[in-house]
Amino acid sequence: MWDQIPPDPIFNIYGRYLEDSRPSKINAAIGILLQNQKGYVMPSVQKAAAHVKHDDYGYLPIGGDRSFLEWVRDLYIPSEKNDCVALQQTAGGTHACWIMGQIGKRCGWGPFLIPVPTWDNYFVLLEHGTQTTFSHLNKEGEIDWNAYKNAIQSADEGSVLMLQATGAHNPTGKNLNEAQRDELIKMVNKRKIWVYMDGAYIGLAAGLKADTSWVSNMWKGVDQVMLGVSFSKTATMYGHRLGALMIKCPDGSQVKAMESYLQAAMRGSISMPPRWGSLVMQQVQKNYTSEWEDDINRTQNQLAQTRKTLQKLLTDEGAPSSWITALDGEGLFALLPISPETIEQIVQKHGLYIFENGRINISGFIGCEQSITHLLADL
Ligand SMILES: Cc1ncc(COP(=O)(O)O)c(C=O)c1O
Repeated sequence: MWDQIPPDPIFNIYGRYLEDSRPSKINAAIGILLQNQKGYVMPSVQKAAAHVKHDDYGYLPIGGDRSFLEWVRDLYIPSEKNDCVALQQTAGGTHACWIMGQIGKRCGWGPFLIPVPTWDNYFVLLEHGTQTTFSHLNKEGEIDWNAYKNAIQSADEGSVLMLQATGAHNPTGKNLNEAQRDELIKMVNKRKIWVYMDGAYIGLAAGLKADTSWVSNMWKGVDQVMLGVSFSKTATMYGHRLGALMIKCPDGSQVKAMESYLQAAMRGSISMPPRWGSLVMQQVQKNYTSEWEDDINRTQNQLAQTRKTLQKLLTDEGAPSSWITALDGEGLFALLPISPETIEQIVQKHGLYIFENGRINISGFIGCEQSITHLLADL
């Protein structure tokens, strides 16, 4: 008969958090934006949602809402010749990545080059393809640039490098610097490798303007490039499942063919994208663009400040220096070098929930920064 498979580890730990009856429990495990342990919804998005008329329950076109997609394209890759970009609305960033994998299957791209540690769902979404992993960080906790160079230089033409966009890398909070990105652009073009930029946190690393430049410069430089975006965190639309996939085509005449592939993958998964999220974001575009940008930048700033506070608290308590430097990064996450056994003790003793690999959600500490010292209790 059937054997139950283990639950996804992130939902497993979140389930345990929900069942914990201690009022002092802290959720720093699941990757959502929190403030004082409550889910945060961007005020601009909430206001925009109030403008959406609820008089049309029909299907969206299979490719998605064109005016939403064109806005997203011009937002993240503003200087690009936009008649060479194939567009598809998706159900969040997860679905953008899955559709990209299906396009890879159809076009014979692969293997997928995956720097680890990373967002583990890549291994599930791309399970049909060959996956080659290499180190994202070295022993010192810095980018393992040699590993990147070796992986790219030995990769076959048509391989797909899974690159998270911006410094808000999940789970490390650390990503390639500008000089490394410039060198990477030359190497991938020379070897005719595709780059999939996963933009799940654009704006939350260094603010919307700086993060958009990160993305658009890569897009401009790389010949074979794709961008998956998610509005789950960047617009707190999580459950409404809003995202987009963009693929650079060699010239405008190829766009229709690529969009037909995208639409075939959409048809074979959820048939057409969900409707409500794109209507909300169009209201953001019409009425609240600068408020939305402020919401993103304020959140980014709060994350950066919270990192500094956590670093100070840990330094004052005599934490190992590797913990302090692990918090040097950007965005929502940091990866602390703590063993799964110690994590389990911390969960049981203090009700501080962090992910089994040592990943903490920085926003889980906003308003309860002091609880970071629980991590040191048994060292
Ligand atoms: C790196 C990365 N990519 C993509 C996603 C997908 O986000 P969603 O499908 O919720 O939009 C996430 C979410 O955790 C992520 O961390």
